[in-house]
Amino acid sequence: MTGTILLLSGPNLTLLGERQPLIYGSDTLDDLVGRARSVAEANGFDLRHRQSNHEGELVDEIHAGRTSTSGLIVNAAALSHYGRSLHDALLAYDQPKVELHISNPLAREEWRHESVVSPVVDACMSGFGAAGYTLAVHGLLALIERRGEG
Ligand code: DQA
Repeated sequence: MTGTILLLSGPNLTLLGERQPLIYGSDTLDDLVGRARSVAEANGFDLRHRQSNHEGELVDEIHAGRTSTSGLIVNAAALSHYGRSLHDALLAYDQPKVELHISNPLAREEWRHESVVSPVVDACMSGFGAAGYTLAVHGLLALIERRGEG
């Protein structure tokens, strides 16, 4: 199989490596995306990464990906907890979808316990730190393959 995986990064993730390293680790976003891309490419897929601090721009990327990508992984960061236009955009994206978090939001402050993304994705990956990025690609590829067989 081949195709393009869309990886979306929400607000403040450009500060990875500097921001709360005890929670988010010392890798930069480029490090994490690079490793995710290596796994995608080793499996015959391209990876398109987009980061934005603005909800509407992420919505635009999901719209653009509807016909040009085979599946998506989204770490919507704080928007995960209240970004309802992101929720609606994901509902309109028909390929396999994985929600990703570096930390485990359910083990943190109460306001992080709700995700508006979780109900509209196929799978969630939280709490694995940097390893979550490569694990999420493997998981998404399995969902894409399963879809292909269905
Ligand atoms: C995060 C968790 C969110 O609650 C937080 O707002 C982030 C990062 C994570 O990857 O663990 O910015 O999505």
